[in-house]
Amino acid sequence: MFNQIDLDQIDLNAEPPVNEPLRQYYYMAKLKKLVKERSEALGHPLSCCIKTFGCQMNARDSEKLRGILEIAGYKLSDSEESDLVLYNTCTVRENANQKVYGHLGYLSSLKKKNPGMVIALCGCMMQEPEVVDKIQKSYRFVDLVFGTHNIYKFAELLVTSLESHRMVVDLWKDTDKIVEDLPSERTYSFKSGVNIMFGCNNFCSYCIVPYVRGRERSRKPEDIIKEIEALVKDGVVEVMLLGQNVNSYGKNLDEPVTFAQLLQMVEKIDGLERIRFMTSHPKDLSDELIEVMKHSKKICRHLHLPLQSGSTAILKKMNRKYTKEQYLALAEKLRREMPDLAITTDIIVGFPGETEEDFQETLDVVSKVKYDSAFTFIYSKRTGTPAAVMENQVPDDVVKDRFNRLLALVQDVSKEMSLRVQGQTLPVLVESINEQDPDLVTGRLGNNLLVHFPGGSELIGKIIDVYLKECKGFYYLGELEEHK
Ligand code: SAH
Ligand code: SF4
Ligand code: F3S
Repeated sequence: MFNQIDLDQIDLNAEPPVNEPLRQYYYMAKLKKLVKERSEALGHPLSCCIKTFGCQMNARDSEKLRGILEIAGYKLSDSEESDLVLYNTCTVRENANQKVYGHLGYLSSLKKKNPGMVIALCGCMMQEPEVVDKIQKSYRFVDLVFGTHNIYKFAELLVTSLESHRMVVDLWKDTDKIVEDLPSERTYSFKSGVNIMFGCNNFCSYCIVPYVRGRERSRKPEDIIKEIEALVKDGVVEVMLLGQNVNSYGKNLDEPVTFAQLLQMVEKIDGLERIRFMTSHPKDLSDELIEVMKHSKKICRHLHLPLQSGSTAILKKMNRKYTKEQYLALAEKLRREMPDLAITTDIIVGFPGETEEDFQETLDVVSKVKYDSAFTFIYSKRTGTPAAVMENQVPDDVVKDRFNRLLALVQDVSKEMSLRVQGQTLPVLVESINEQDPDLVTGRLGNNLLVHFPGGSELIGKIIDVYLKECKGFYYLGELEEHK
């Protein structure tokens, strides 16, 4: 494991090793030396700031990138007024891209004040050639650009960048490589995301993720277990297993393993208390998985099951590979087998060709499934995806109107569902001091609802029973069991 490596023992006069992760350990040692020299020359430690745009996958990648910077001696900061700023970008919808360009303008003004500042960009948006062209032409102050497939090389790339005076760009189209045993700096001490697979093979017709994250690759179960065991030793009680479609985990391994089997292996890890996972594609959610969830003591009663649309015709155009009826039957089965399960979803409004009737089918599924919560998105055209060139793109005003109607319904049903546990006493993992009221702490129920209740920072990271006194729509006000 990484924590057994002593970077100061690495001989920097030798040639860099060819094999990974040894090569990266070499570059981390080199980076550490450069950081030390620079901070001595400046008379203060070098600071760095990583901003994450996008999903849990990106958030986990940022923890790995942060781990490398921390090992190298950078002081982690939340402020972009730092010596190194790295944006880990997202491109799933156009507004994600716009946000990054907006922020870049601000970085350019900071760099004028601090010319030694290093500006680096990575993540999904950088896998798009048009974006990189634009950055090379119009954002010359950027120092380093890399993508999603080579984040493990960050130390090496940063050394190259610090030693050169030109923009360093390193982008790979795809990879079949998974590099294990690199450091990471977790955002929370008590919970962590764990990648179980990378990439996506589903090619939903609206979605850019398969193009920017490459083909599906599963990590070996033993590597996943080893990582979780180390996390548990380090104080983690909850893990979130991450993949674009966890239900197809393990199919392409030399010795295939199903996702349900992986869950059973993870369940056996002593000291681990809660298991979550994200995301489940409805097309291949197996009965085996339902059985394993039902009998598990650790898997949280929460399933994120993206619907995208309730219309079978639109689902077909989206290449989702299930019908409205199949989705409803699956949701019904889940509710029957696990009545206390929270089901959440993602829905897109305004996919090309969506008629009012199609939209009514979506509303119908929402009323029938009664989601505990739903993320609703306005369709965003992604260049290069099949949907971008489909006819009958829906006019903005029509989409906006549908979006508002959907949101109103989603809020109604999820309020109703949230009420289900009022008056019960349930285990809560305490995550933080409440942002508004320092006398309260904020924790999470197994079903993913937030609970605020009186308590202090000594409770953070603990799982405790909380009486759910009052439902406030999408969250609870509670009381510690002993104060009830
Ligand atoms: N792999 C996950 C989702 C990844 S993207 C899954 O299959 O569920 C997260 C969500 O973004 C998707 O579920 C979808 O609802 C939304 N999304 C993806 N592409 C989009 C687009 N072009 N426009 C609007 N929403 C989109
Ligand atoms: Fe995108 Fe579909 Fe893959 Fe999810 S499953 S990442 S929506 S292509
Ligand atoms: Fe965005 Fe990439 Fe995630 S495009 S949603 S950060 S996989």
